[in-house]
Formats: sequence, structure tokens, C-alpha cells
Amino acid sequence: MVVPNNFRKIKCLEDLDPYAKSFLPQALWEFGSVGVEHNLSREGNRKVFDEIWLQPRTLINVSSRSIKRSLFNHTYTFPFGISPMGASAMFGFEADLNFARAAKESNIPYVMSGSALVPIEKVAEANPDVWFQAYVDADRDSIGLLADRVWRSGIQNLVITVDVAVPGNRGTALRKGFEYPIRPNIALALDALFHPRWLVKTFFRTLLSSGLPHIENYGPKRGIPIISKEAPGRKHVRDGLDWEDMKWLRDRWKGRLMIKGVLSGEDANLANTIGLDGVFVSNHGGRQLDTAIPPLKVLAEIVAEKGKMVILFDSGVRRGTDVIKALALGADFVFSGRPFLYAAALGGQEGISYVINLLADEVDRNLALLGCTTLDQLPERLA
Ligand SMILES: Cc1cc2nc3c(=O)[nH]c(=O)nc-3n(C[C@H](O)[C@H](O)[C@H](O)COP(=O)(O)O)c2cc1C
Repeated sequence: MVVPNNFRKIKCLEDLDPYAKSFLPQALWEFGSVGVEHNLSREGNRKVFDEIWLQPRTLINVSSRSIKRSLFNHTYTFPFGISPMGASAMFGFEADLNFARAAKESNIPYVMSGSALVPIEKVAEANPDVWFQAYVDADRDSIGLLADRVWRSGIQNLVITVDVAVPGNRGTALRKGFEYPIRPNIALALDALFHPRWLVKTFFRTLLSSGLPHIENYGPKRGIPIISKEAPGRKHVRDGLDWEDMKWLRDRWKGRLMIKGVLSGEDANLANTIGLDGVFVSNHGGRQLDTAIPPLKVLAEIVAEKGKMVILFDSGVRRGTDVIKALALGADFVFSGRPFLYAAALGGQEGISYVINLLADEVDRNLALLGCTTLDQLPERLA
């Protein structure tokens, strides 16, 4: 495994936090790291992992073991992937492209965000297996035009995020003037000036290579610049979207269709009934409704309703044991967000690859310590 120079002291995913905090302008760090309101869901996402215990077995030959996982006719090398994260290219130079490249190299899935600042087509060119996550409202003409663009780029796996009827209440970042788009102000400019490494390595490098980033993928065409005086207005309100729209999209989209942000068995059952291919059990990393239940707590209830769908899981995954617990409780695949974002900021593609390998090593080590040779044996090790 290649260890980037500034990653020598990074021995687990959470080790990235203080380094990212000092590298990034404060407003950007807060936008990425915080949850909403009292951060209860974000904190809860971590705590619930601590409530589950594992029961190892001994004297089992585990010398040939595998942490490969098959999903949608593809065998991935590791059972985890990278969650969609908007505005990633503000954190790290070409972050979306680097996620795509690192995911391809490690043979894991990467879900590109609909709020990314790099065009879909460029990311799909870097990694034809990339999935696309879209933010849509009930306007079917707009959904159709975006879906056609995604399909033309060669992407087959489409994820619609459904826990964002209205934006979450991210008070801390907003207080600093960090919105989407970012509305320029003196405090933000000073914040950037006091973080010269970020200014040079991410911001100026981006300006020199492709100009001011734009919100590229909300519709069929390029949107406004990420730094703009234009008020966000209703752009982030998607309160009209309902199951009828999803049914309509299901009939129209020829590839695999999933929804992200499911936290109840009833919704999983409806998703299966209308023929969706999968659901992401997720509370958006605690960034939408504060006190929304941590997904691990409802995972078993949702797995019971999965029918023909696959169950994908994210929110709070930081350790190999977290991946193992979610799989043991019935998730088909597990995703993580923020650690990969910080890795992209601090170390680009190499940093992301390094972190993928750190998490993979933990999963592999824990599998052996549990006395298992395959991931399918994990449910037997729940205490
Ligand atoms: C900075 C940031 C931006 C995000 N943007 C999106 C997005 O555009 N679409 C989406 O569905 N989820 C988005 N999410 C949520 C992630 O996909 C994922 O659900 C969450 O980060 C998982 O929690 P974790 O960070 O604790 O692993 C974002 C999360 C972060 C931290």
C-alpha cells in the first residue's frame, strides 16, 4: 500500500479528522463535518455501533479468507463503497474524479453526487462503473431530461435521494455564510486566506485547471458557479416528490434504480412493490432531520421487507467492525462518506486509496479474529 507523505500518522479513518480540520477553511470544515441542530443523529450513528457485540469462535482455520462481495452481477474486492458527497471538489482538487479513479483501482463502488462540481460525463469517463445520485423535485420533465443525460453518459445505476424534501438546518455552516452556492463575503475570504495550504492545493489549482467550479449536474445543462451572489431560493426544495413520481421514473429508467434515505420497513416495502432495485438505509450522516433514528437501529426491520431489492447502508461507518456489524445485520453493501472526503482533501487519489486499504485491512483482520472465512458467516457471530 502506498502511504502518502502526509498520511504516515493516519492509522484509522478517524485519524483524518484533526488534519482535515486544520487544512480546510473553518466554514468548509463545518459544512462537511457537522450534522444538523444538536448533532444528535450524527452522534447517535456512532453510538449504536457500540451497542452491538460480536462473539468470536476459535481454532478455525481462517488462512484462506475473502472479503469480496457481489452486487448487481459485479464482484467487488471489498464490501464497502464511497457515499455521494456534494461540493467535494471544494474540499480537494478534482475530488470527484479522484473518488472515481480510486474506486476503479480498488474495484469498489462509488456513488457520484448530483451536487458534484464536475460534470457527470467526465466522472463516467474516468470510471464507467460509477453510480449517479440525483436530487429531483416532482417536475417530471426536469427529471426526464436529467435521467436522459445520465443514461447518455453510460451510467446504469441511478440513486434518488429522498430524505431531502427541504434542506436540513445546518446552522453552524450557515452562520459562517456557507450556503450552496456560497455567497461571497469578507469573513469567508479571510477564512480562506488563513488556510493557505487549501488555498493553493485545492482552490487556486482548481481555478487554474478549469476555472471557477459550477453546480454541474442538477439538470440537462451546466448550472451557476459555486461561488455566486444568487440566492439558493427554491433550488433545494423538493417537497413535491412522491411515490407516484418514483413509479413513473421506474417505468422510464432502463437501468437500476435505488432510493437513498430510507428509515422504515413500510418505505422499503413500497420501494420493493414498485420494482426498485435497492434502498440506501441512511439518515444522510445526520445532516437532514436531527434525531432521525440511526440507520443501524432499523436495519433488521428494513431487511425483513427487502423482497427482491438489495439493502445498502451508510451513516457513521468508520471501522472494519462497523462494516461487519452492518453486514451481519443483513446489509448487502456498506458505504462511508466523510472519511473519504477528508482523504480526498489531504491526499487526492493516493489518499483515498490509502484509506480504502486501511478500512479493508480492518475488515479482513476482524473477519479472521471472528473465526470466519467469508462475509456470509457473519450473522452467526452476532452476540
Ligand atoms: C459534505 C457532504 C456532502 C454530502 N452530499 C450529499 C449529496 O450530494 N447527496 C446525498 O445523497 N448525500 C450526501 N451526503 C450524505 C452522504 O451521502 C452519506 O449519506 C453520509 O455522509 C454518510 O455518513 P458518514 O459521513 O457518517 O459516513 C453528503 C455528506 C457530506 C458529509
